[in-house]
Amino acid sequence: MGMKASDEGKRKIKVALEKKKLKPLAKETLQKVTLELHISETTWKAFVYAERLLGNETFKRCCELLDLNWVEIVDSLQTSKYNWNSAPSPEPNFYGRDRELAILKQSVLSDRYRWVILYGFGGIGKTQLAVKLGAQVQNQFDRLIWQKLSYTTPKDKLLTDLLERLSLDNAQITSNLVEGFLEELKRQRILIILDEQDLYEEGKHTDGNRDSYKDYCNFLHQLSLERHESCIVLTSRERPENIGAAASLIKAYEIKELDVDAGCNILKYIELPKDLTFNEQTGSELVQRYGGNPLALKLVAFLIHDSFDGNVREFLNKHERSLVVPDGIEIILKSLTKTLSKFEKNILQYIAKASDSVSLDELYENLPTEMYYSDLSKVLQTLKGRSLIIGDSEGNEVFCTLQPMVRKFVQRQLT
Ligand SMILES: Nc1ncnc2c1ncn2[C@@H]1O[C@H](COP(=O)(O)OP(=O)(O)OP(=O)(O)O)[C@@H](O)[C@H]1O
Ligand SMILES: [Mg+2]
Repeated sequence: MGMKASDEGKRKIKVALEKKKLKPLAKETLQKVTLELHISETTWKAFVYAERLLGNETFKRCCELLDLNWVEIVDSLQTSKYNWNSAPSPEPNFYGRDRELAILKQSVLSDRYRWVILYGFGGIGKTQLAVKLGAQVQNQFDRLIWQKLSYTTPKDKLLTDLLERLSLDNAQITSNLVEGFLEELKRQRILIILDEQDLYEEGKHTDGNRDSYKDYCNFLHQLSLERHESCIVLTSRERPENIGAAASLIKAYEIKELDVDAGCNILKYIELPKDLTFNEQTGSELVQRYGGNPLALKLVAFLIHDSFDGNVREFLNKHERSLVVPDGIEIILKSLTKTLSKFEKNILQYIAKASDSVSLDELYENLPTEMYYSDLSKVLQTLKGRSLIIGDSEGNEVFCTLQPMVRKFVQRQLT
């Protein structure tokens, strides 16, 4: 593991330098450093300004030179074995998901998938599930790193960050970052949790961003084909394409709606100035209308509190025919549908118009004129991969439907 100074540590380094009448990067200082520590100017600069992790020995010797106790200087968060740095706090009122957690734990620990993808609709609880999963399996790994993944970050930058947090003195990082990273995955058993940030954030949904998302997926795919004991967990609003062929190494697992009990618990224990009033039936109706989506439930709970004095029945009666889609969910839907093709939109619209679920046969019979039969399965795959349609089967028949918020959005806004 490597070390770097904490903010307080940096301040102490500055004071120690002043005490010794040394300027951080002055010629005499650098001469002294090269002579006494045999390290390069860039390493010294990285130490003074905590720019990156240094090898433990190098870090300690730099501290000694300034008569500092390294223990008081080092950033302990950076160096701990389990590095949760940028992870969100665990949801204190977390409900349900026992089944999902059991499956995911098995995927990571027993089945030893090298890439586990938790995909599902925005706000469905992927990140919180990954927090739980990480906490429950971390002691089976040598290291854990939680990393926010923004597709606008160049891959090399991400790899450099990860390598620094994993270990290494820059001198040890080989010039080929991919090879260096792979080496680390082989050397220790590491759990890396990549938590998707902004693929769909408003305004950021550009073609460039999408290309870079695909690049990342290809890269993670390639890593999974290499032999190692580490595991990468990715949260994503979309199921990556073309991973089918490596199904024994890659697990793509869709996070679906919360069960009704868990959803009702969210409504019951959400912190509001005044509790919501509802019974088993109204609670379960609300949870189902909002697709068991914890984010949607939280948002709508505020609305019911503010506009209906907390009375769930009244809210449901008032909006029986016209579902309220909270703004936060509408933003997600806008970005999820923005890059859909004409056919994909057509199919969504067809399903949204039907009052019930639609069988595959019916879809085949009603294809838009320019669309071929062979296109349909690809279209459905994309839509399912973004959790925009729900598939179900009865005997040999396959049916598709939309969750109510998606239906409303498609009917009103998707043109
Ligand atoms: N099982 C749960 N019980 C209670 N609250 C939950 C649960 N899962 C998620 N939440 C809450 O719902 C909200 C959305 O959860 P989270 O951020 O994990 O969703 P996400 O799927 O990662 O969303 P995004 O696609 O935007 O990243 C958060 O406020 C989270 O605390
Ligand atoms: Mg998330």
